[in-house]
Amino acid sequence: MKKPEIPLIINGRRIDGRLPDEVREIKMSIGEILNADGSARVSFGNTEAIVAVYGPRALFPKFLQETDVGLVRVIYSMSPFSVDERKNPAPDRRSIEISKVTKEALSAAIFIEDFPKAVVDVYENIIQADGSTRVAAINAASLALASAGIPMKDLVAACSVGKVDDTLIVDLNGKEDNYSESDMAVAMMPSKGLITFLQMDGRLTKEEVLELLKKAEEVCKRIYELQKKTLLERYKMEKEEE
Ligand code: CDP
Repeated sequence: MKKPEIPLIINGRRIDGRLPDEVREIKMSIGEILNADGSARVSFGNTEAIVAVYGPRALFPKFLQETDVGLVRVIYSMSPFSVDERKNPAPDRRSIEISKVTKEALSAAIFIEDFPKAVVDVYENIIQADGSTRVAAINAASLALASAGIPMKDLVAACSVGKVDDTLIVDLNGKEDNYSESDMAVAMMPSKGLITFLQMDGRLTKEEVLELLKKAEEVCKRIYELQKKTLLERYKMEKEEE
């Protein structure tokens, strides 16, 4: 997208006042969608994702069933009211792509051999969009899957990094996302040090890619700690209620 007239970095600060390495306020919660087997809400500043997980449940039609592994389906969608210009709720190329890539980011962590012939459905909904929605969706989906008791190798934590006005930054907001020189979305299984998803737009040198990956790893590790804390608090609360 064409760069706007205004600079994106002024006196070392970003347009929302953050320093280059500063992440927006992160909030996480679990269990709001009572009908679902697992659910979670994650926000980074004004970007907010809510995810519901159903399953494992029987998969129909039967010819889709695999005898040795289960199926994971992911649908990403942005609510019409999530941005100031109404978003058409019909699936578009972008949401079909994000459904596919976020599914891959999550599938790497799921023991699909533990639920043969069954399906796990993951519904990722963006209720407010201000940049980096796909990584917010991955963070919330990973928490929702864990809260649904889906067997996983690790939680998946994700963040965005990029370059604006020649400065390397983390957690891009909407304007930075749209006008960046380059942006990368990264998801990983932090305790295993494995990257499960990486997308990049724009141009970066090899050194910049390595530097941004280092920054992404640091942010993902912080998100991972918050995810674990959120799960623990939820289970402590449930135990107390018993
Ligand atoms: O959200 P994410 O960075 O994962 O994906 P993107 O396609 O790079 O979208 C960047 C941002 O553009 C979104 O986070 C929204 O803030 C904005 N957007 C929008 O305003 N209207 C759309 N129909 C799609 C995206």
